[in-house]
Amino acid sequence: MAVIFSGIQPSGELTLGNYLGALRNFLEFQDEHECYYCIVNQHAITVPQDPKELFANTRKLAALYLAVGLDSKKSTLFVQSEVPEHVKLGWVMITSSYVGELERMTQYKDKSQKQGDSIPAGLLVYPPLMAADILLYQTKYVPVGEDQTQHMELTRNLAQRFNRLYGEVFTVPEIYLGKGGARVMSLQEPTKKMSKSDDNQMATIRLLDDADTIAKKIKRAQTDSLNHVHYDKENQPGISNLMGIYQAITKDSLEAIEAKYEGKGYGAFKGDVAELLVDTLQPIQARYNELKDSSELDVILDQGAQKAHEVAAKTYRKVELAMGLHRK
Ligand code: AQP
Repeated sequence: MAVIFSGIQPSGELTLGNYLGALRNFLEFQDEHECYYCIVNQHAITVPQDPKELFANTRKLAALYLAVGLDSKKSTLFVQSEVPEHVKLGWVMITSSYVGELERMTQYKDKSQKQGDSIPAGLLVYPPLMAADILLYQTKYVPVGEDQTQHMELTRNLAQRFNRLYGEVFTVPEIYLGKGGARVMSLQEPTKKMSKSDDNQMATIRLLDDADTIAKKIKRAQTDSLNHVHYDKENQPGISNLMGIYQAITKDSLEAIEAKYEGKGYGAFKGDVAELLVDTLQPIQARYNELKDSSELDVILDQGAQKAHEVAAKTYRKVELAMGLHRK
């Protein structure tokens, strides 16, 4: 039995990218491993958040974790800010990091570009906090999307650096990339990843979108004028992205998809992609609606925070002792 940890920010309504790249893969582990799934609200505030929306999105995200099939009897589901060891170890990880290595993170470069002259410092120190989230649970595998590869490398470096300096305190974790849907791209700019904080509503499929909205967004998804369902990320990024989505859901090979739509054009293919998405998301939405205002949700999150705190406090105590941060 290995320890599994992953987190998602409540920074907006979840997208199909979050589902195919992360959430869906979480379910694979819960029968056989010790799983911790976190709502990382302290990461969300690395860019300004509307307080009411942050509060609402935290609850929505908890309900969605459960709606996709996460079982609270098997997995520990909790909110990051309710377990204080995350920021405590986060600070230790920040002090163990070099500015140069943090500035090299591509997500920092992308997000800071949009901020003009006033780049929030949180954007720079987000990856060491992410390292702390993972290391607190002595995690072995971290199921995340491919976009997190660089942050995971940093997490491993920070764990190894700490162990070298202070003795073996942390398990060095590994990234776990699921089989399909590793990176879902924007429907409007298919060379950019689909992101929940994208301002262009047509760029993302939200997990709570209704059938008509899904059909409209897929119909208007950027493609090209070749009208040939063919996988070529370089020259046909839009249609390749839709094929990736189709493949992630059906598990069909790209060759099989190309053969099925040979001579049929984009209209028929897009119609089928929309239908697949509606069939996949509708049962999740029904379960979500039952859960979102239930007291069951609070009980699950209270118990989750307590369990997470017990484990995190043990690791943090080892850190204090190793570093001389303790008094007794
Ligand atoms: N487009 C994507 N394709 C595949 N996986 C994705 N993930 C995010 N976008 C895609 C995966 O979802 C998990 C949650 O990530 P997060 O909420 O911590 O932050 P993020 O990666 O920055 O996600 P977003 O949606 O892009 O949020 P914003 O817009 O707030 O920055 C991660 O496992 C990620 O790999």
